[in-house]
Amino acid sequence: MLVRMEIESVLVTGANRGIGLELVKQLVQLPKTPKFVFATYRDESSTQDLKNIKDSSKESHVVLIKMDITKAEDIQNARRIIEDSVGEKGLNLVINNAGAAKYQSFNDITEENMLFHFTTNTVGPLLVLKEMLPLLQKSAANITDGLSVSRSAVLNISSLAGSMTMLSPSSPLGTDYLKIMGYRVSKAALNMTMKIAALTLTKETGILLLNMCPGWVRTEMGTDRAMIDVWDSVSDIIKTLPTLNDSHHGTFLDRHGNTIPY
Ligand SMILES: NC(=O)c1ccc[n+]([C@@H]2O[C@H](COP(=O)([O-])OP(=O)(O)OC[C@H]3O[C@@H](n4cnc5c(N)ncnc54)[C@H](OP(=O)(O)O)[C@@H]3O)[C@@H](O)[C@H]2O)c1
Repeated sequence: MLVRMEIESVLVTGANRGIGLELVKQLVQLPKTPKFVFATYRDESSTQDLKNIKDSSKESHVVLIKMDITKAEDIQNARRIIEDSVGEKGLNLVINNAGAAKYQSFNDITEENMLFHFTTNTVGPLLVLKEMLPLLQKSAANITDGLSVSRSAVLNISSLAGSMTMLSPSSPLGTDYLKIMGYRVSKAALNMTMKIAALTLTKETGILLLNMCPGWVRTEMGTDRAMIDVWDSVSDIIKTLPTLNDSHHGTFLDRHGNTIPY
């Protein structure tokens, strides 16, 4: 079934490279382009690709925002910039994409490595969600139908690596499957964090909230051993977005919209 999607405004975190950059690229090429695409980066010197998209984008305003998701003041500053642009319409969609991974196995795991992942991959997206919530609520109030990405939504880019059920020695990562301990734990914690958020923000709030794995993707994080190209991953994610509804609230999905067990 073809479902129409109209994203008025979208925030993509970690948009200067990898999956985040490709999301921005494909969002500004949608048949009905978002009016605002807020794309975040940490380091000005890494923004050339984003600037090229901004310059060539005719329909969407691409707004580049410096934001480290581990810094509360950066997130507040981003919220102010977004609020000034969207006004009473609020923010339509948050894609919590920024994330990091540093290999360390159980044998050499450090407190620093565990806390690094928890701060970046779990607490960061939570802080972004909490800060953007009033803007998402405004967007949700503009439409009274059920949940959808066109109304108000938060898409957390999680990872199959965070699934307790799916952790097995037959992982496509081969013998490396246990070497990203801190990352796996932080994504499992992200899944739980966002499930609690979804159950707290019931369907009545009008905000759709879910976790999604993009697949094993050839980016700096995914490495060139990964199974899929970043364009394929993102185009599958974007195809799935309009199919999401009330039944997906609080779920964990792959990029095609199939359920992944937590
Ligand atoms: N690639 C895969 O196979 C795969 C699989 C499953 C899930 N994922 C998830 O997909 C998301 C994107 O991954 P990717 O493959 O595109 O990775 P990537 O190429 O390494 O890009 C990561 C992005 O996150 C940003 N980032 C990292 N720490 C940040 C922080 N503290 N504050 C703000 N931004 C930060 C990076 O910014 P800088 O350039 O400033 O470092 C960069 O823009 C991540 O959440 C990842 O866990 C990826």
